[in-house]
Amino acid sequence: MGRRILVTGATGTVGGALMRELSQDAPEGRIELLGAARSDRAALKLLERDQSPVEFDFDRPETLLPALEGVDAVFLSTGYSVDMIVHSKRLLDAAKTAGVRHIVHLGALAPDDTTHAHFAWHQVIERTIEAMGFDWTHLRPNFFMDTVWNGFMHRPDRLVHFIGDRKVSWISSDDMAAVAAQALRSPSDHSGQTYCLATEALSFPDLANLLSEVTGAPAQYRPRPAADLLPLLLKQGMEPAYAAGLAEGVAALEAAPQPLADAVFDDVARITGRAPVTWRDFAARRLGSLPARS
Ligand SMILES: NC(=O)c1ccc[n+]([C@@H]2O[C@H](COP(=O)([O-])OP(=O)(O)OC[C@H]3O[C@@H](n4cnc5c(N)ncnc54)[C@H](OP(=O)(O)O)[C@@H]3O)[C@@H](O)[C@H]2O)c1
Repeated sequence: MGRRILVTGATGTVGGALMRELSQDAPEGRIELLGAARSDRAALKLLERDQSPVEFDFDRPETLLPALEGVDAVFLSTGYSVDMIVHSKRLLDAAKTAGVRHIVHLGALAPDDTTHAHFAWHQVIERTIEAMGFDWTHLRPNFFMDTVWNGFMHRPDRLVHFIGDRKVSWISSDDMAAVAAQALRSPSDHSGQTYCLATEALSFPDLANLLSEVTGAPAQYRPRPAADLLPLLLKQGMEPAYAAGLAEGVAALEAAPQPLADAVFDDVARITGRAPVTWRDFAARRLGSLPARS
């Protein structure tokens, strides 16, 4: 049996893409792949994809140690909530007890001296992973293409955002998954490394033009003031501390260019040996997910 890998967030955007990517290795016995599932529904979702679920709920700490038994490496992905801190601490404590060696952490791209809460929390988690003596690989993605696409898919005539015409850099879940998979396959090559995952810089007006071209139908960018974001996130049910941190970061970006916000890096190409997914590729591959237009 190969190395045992536990993917947290296995039913989510990045963890889901990573499960797909690593599933290719499982039949050859190179790895034994487990996907964290906190409910029967999540377990069923993984089983339908021929993936192996393991009961795992950050909010039921008693599930963590059994899920980590015999595990060599963990992909640590947390949700959009201040609970990310306590969830990560619980996972890391249990992983230490279980003898896990390697943690690949999904963080976020920001300068080391960032003052914005959700970036700072990810950095505190990175420092904790290092201090606890794990082998580690830190992934620092910037804006997810998938998050914007998920909204666009439902309203393909418009893009709404809160950063005006500011250029930002983007990454696809497939590229994040490809880099995470390489780190998990070859820990000795990637331990102690931080990868900045941002492959293309585009403003929302640029993106609206590109999506109009790729879809063959007009998509209009509708900027809204950053001050509108917090009430909207709260209305959508986002946990308040995370929503406040996110809104603060977006307001700062609307007001002035922020360090690294539009930075691009060659890490994806360097680690995977292939060209990264551009916004044009990403949209073209997902045209089938758009509603039919009359
Ligand atoms: N969106 C962006 O532009 C962006 C940019 C940079 C960094 N990030 C970072 O990306 C991370 C989020 O990644 P994502 O978008 O892939 O997440 P996601 O799609 O929201 O997926 C969340 C995953 O976590 C699972 N989960 C939630 N609560 C859980 C619990 N109590 N116990 C066990 N599992 C639980 C969910 O399971 P269920 O299916 O059961 O709900 C799901 O699999 C965050 O840390 C964020 O800071 C995002």
